[in-house]
Amino acid sequence: MKVLNLYSSATGNTDKVARRIETAVQETGHEVKTIKADKDVDLNILAYDFVFVGSGVYSWLPGKPLMELVERLREEYARSGEIRPASPRRPGKKAVVYCTFGGGHTGANEALPAVKYMGQLFDHLGYEIIDEWYLSGEFHGKLHPLSTTGRLGNILGRPNEADLQEISQKVFGIMRV
Ligand SMILES: Cc1cc2nc3c(=O)[nH]c(=O)nc-3n(C[C@H](O)[C@H](O)[C@H](O)COP(=O)(O)O)c2cc1C
Repeated sequence: MKVLNLYSSATGNTDKVARRIETAVQETGHEVKTIKADKDVDLNILAYDFVFVGSGVYSWLPGKPLMELVERLREEYARSGEIRPASPRRPGKKAVVYCTFGGGHTGANEALPAVKYMGQLFDHLGYEIIDEWYLSGEFHGKLHPLSTTGRLGNILGRPNEADLQEISQKVFGIMRV
């Protein structure tokens, strides 16, 4: 199985998760390509059977590099006819969509749009979204105080080793089937 591990990370939190996904997939013996989103990325999603796609959450949406990539790919696949009316399924093609988020104001509610936004590209292409993961991610920079005062409580150091071990286990579980 060819696995795509696509992500965006501005302050390093999603980087940690993506690196753990890569290692875990490799341990299951599958081929994995890890790509950090940026505007010059040349990517043929349809070459992959399984996709992990994730980002930090910024103003309720994925980070800008991933937003821009999704927008560009949506246009390209619509133009080439790969995004079809009623989005017929592509048997065997699957995706997991995830985010790391701080939830400083409305908790997981403010991460939902980011995950749904990323997932739509794959759903439009006919991939089955088999899971969505929401991981706590400490705020870095000026918003750091929100890491202890928001709706998620104290999220300093997250995602931490326990979070990452959980990700490994989920990847093992998914890849096994
Ligand atoms: C400038 C800035 C804006 C953020 N906006 C949100 C937000 O709207 N909602 C949220 O849940 N988390 C928000 N966060 C927290 C990040 O989503 C969280 O720290 C995430 O893990 C960062 O991932 P990254 O380092 O991979 O980019 C924000 C963080 C920063 C620094």
